[in-house]
Amino acid sequence: MADELRRLAVNRSYYSGSIADFCAADVDAVLAQMARRNDFDLTGTQREAWIEQAQLLQEILAPYHGAIYLEFTIPRMGTRADAVVIIGPVIFVLEFKVGEWHFHLRDLDQVVDYALDLRNFHEGSHEAYIAPVLVCTRARADRCFMPSEVPDDHLFKAARTNAQGLAATLAGILKLVRAEEVAIDSWESSSYKPTPTIIEATLALYRGHAVAEISRNDAGATNLTRTAASVDEIIRSARRGGRKAVCFVTGVPGAGKTLVGLDAATKHINTKDELYSVFLSGNGPLVAVLQEALARDRLRRGRLRGEKLRKGEALSEVKAFIQNVHHFRDECVKDPGAPPEHVAIFDEAQRAWNLKQTVDFMKRKKRIPNFSQSEPEFLISCLNRHRDWAVVICLVGGGQEINTGEAGIREWVQAVERSFPDWEIHVSDRLTEAEYGAEREIESVRARGRAKFHSDLHLSTSVRSFRSERVSGWVKELLDLDVDRASASLKEVERKYPIVLTRDLQRARRWLRGQARGSERYGIVVSSQAERLKPHAVDIRSPVNPVHWFLSGKDDVRSSYYLEDVATEFHVQGLELDWSCVVWDADFRHSGDRWDPWSFRGNSWQRIRSSERQAYLKNAYRVLLTRARQGMVVVVPEGDSEDPTRAPSYYDGTFDYLRRCGMSVLKS
Ligand SMILES: Nc1ncnc2c1ncn2[C@@H]1O[C@H](COP(=O)(O)OP(=O)(O)O)[C@@H](O)[C@H]1O
Ligand SMILES: [Mg+2]
Repeated sequence: MADELRRLAVNRSYYSGSIADFCAADVDAVLAQMARRNDFDLTGTQREAWIEQAQLLQEILAPYHGAIYLEFTIPRMGTRADAVVIIGPVIFVLEFKVGEWHFHLRDLDQVVDYALDLRNFHEGSHEAYIAPVLVCTRARADRCFMPSEVPDDHLFKAARTNAQGLAATLAGILKLVRAEEVAIDSWESSSYKPTPTIIEATLALYRGHAVAEISRNDAGATNLTRTAASVDEIIRSARRGGRKAVCFVTGVPGAGKTLVGLDAATKHINTKDELYSVFLSGNGPLVAVLQEALARDRLRRGRLRGEKLRKGEALSEVKAFIQNVHHFRDECVKDPGAPPEHVAIFDEAQRAWNLKQTVDFMKRKKRIPNFSQSEPEFLISCLNRHRDWAVVICLVGGGQEINTGEAGIREWVQAVERSFPDWEIHVSDRLTEAEYGAEREIESVRARGRAKFHSDLHLSTSVRSFRSERVSGWVKELLDLDVDRASASLKEVERKYPIVLTRDLQRARRWLRGQARGSERYGIVVSSQAERLKPHAVDIRSPVNPVHWFLSGKDDVRSSYYLEDVATEFHVQGLELDWSCVVWDADFRHSGDRWDPWSFRGNSWQRIRSSERQAYLKNAYRVLLTRARQGMVVVVPEGDSEDPTRAPSYYDGTFDYLRRCGMSVLKS
């Protein structure tokens, strides 16, 4: 077993061995060994660059003992680090730009990203000293940089060096560290638990990687595989038996529901596949961001292979796979035939529209006066057009309806009950819980023995916040006014996942920039009701473009990194940041011992009376507070006693409450 594990680890790189063996080897032989990996295919100039890099490494590493791994695969990112070298107590991550004169920010970020990937997701590297090094072989000496401080968290600032300076850079870093050597055997056999962002995961799945390659499958997250298998079995058995079935997967925010859905859809992405599936979501920004990311990736990879593909073509290819549910609905209204796919996966199914919303919309926007079905009922009816078999998979987030007209899961169950008596119902055994708002309906199908309950259809652990799975639990406690539990949970969470409080947005911005490294993404999120943050230059009225916000780089003023444009719960639901800043306005105030929900109309705050809208606002804050993978800062402004719409008393109660829930205040 140990050997097998070790082989797995070694398999991660195209060449691996001791430094001594590597230095003694013939470069051509090393290259030949790597070429056996079918995706290691070098063109002429790449080959020359690669040989130069290998010769340089042989020369520089000769005095050392340790291990070397070439083309070390980072599956989460779909790329490979040029070299990982372990010498004594330090793991060096080396990225070579042979012939390059300049240190580009994107190249620096890339090597830091590799180092972060090791530190965050590779068990043997969690505690080790890691030194990212960017080698631009021809860079000027005065542009080079060597870290001179030992970082508290053991991850060095990226070193920049040229070919002549590499030896001194390694030696300099080694001189700084006094610690035990990395035990190479156990490092090689230690497990790797990647947690991709949903965008990275989508790209990897679409490129054909299996979900197991890019995700965690340890005790903390085994559910994903079980849930995926369970969903797969429901699809296959419907197909085998010529039956129709609807299936409800539940889960806490960040537990992997969307990932399960994307996995199911990418497994059967081919139109000729008889299990051909489509991934649908009513979440416009999520769909736009994933489609754009896929199309860009498709173009980039196509160009590398010399394909002449246009952006539009790439986009239409990916649109067949991820679609906006409202678009799918409209297509099905136009065409009364059965849709091409037998399997439809609805993400955030709790957000599908109720009868009133659907009928109003059809009347106003589509000029269909006699539409008479809710969105769930209509969508099932579309799949029901297949004569033989069909499966509808609903991915359901608890407590995450955020908009008027969203039916919750109740309507899905009622629709099946009302109109599709021959459809099987498979439900997560947690769907009876209050936060899904369908207790009565589920009990009724249970009483009549109509539903099959599966524990595997529930995803219980939040994996998004990979350093601490208790973040979403803490958020729930905080929103449910459970101060004691919340402050106890936060003590646990905080050790790995910083959560801090401040009244100063500028300070929060500095905190975000200080926390994030490499290309780790950060941004400001606020509630869509946060109308009185304008004096802080936070304007929810000027709509952000989620595609730029989530995909553009640090030099783009429209990107989240710029900390100017802010996103609301509608933009960020289903997506995530590494580090987030939540600015808390007077729309959701804590006063006395409860939440006080307000909305700003015209020129003043008005109390929200409808219990439905009160719930939406609370859910909005749930979405905002669960967006960060690694840590968050919450800003509760001071207010202004001169401005009646921003009275300090509107904010002070919230600030005090958050402090009582255990949040520590950022020091200047
Ligand atoms: N088993 C897993 N291993 C690694 N990463 C995972 C796993 N499950 C989910 N993730 C990651 O965690 C984040 C949250 O997953 P997501 O599917 O968006 O959750 P949900 O839809 O339930 O809110 C995503 O970044 C996803 O890629
Ligand atoms: Mg999701």
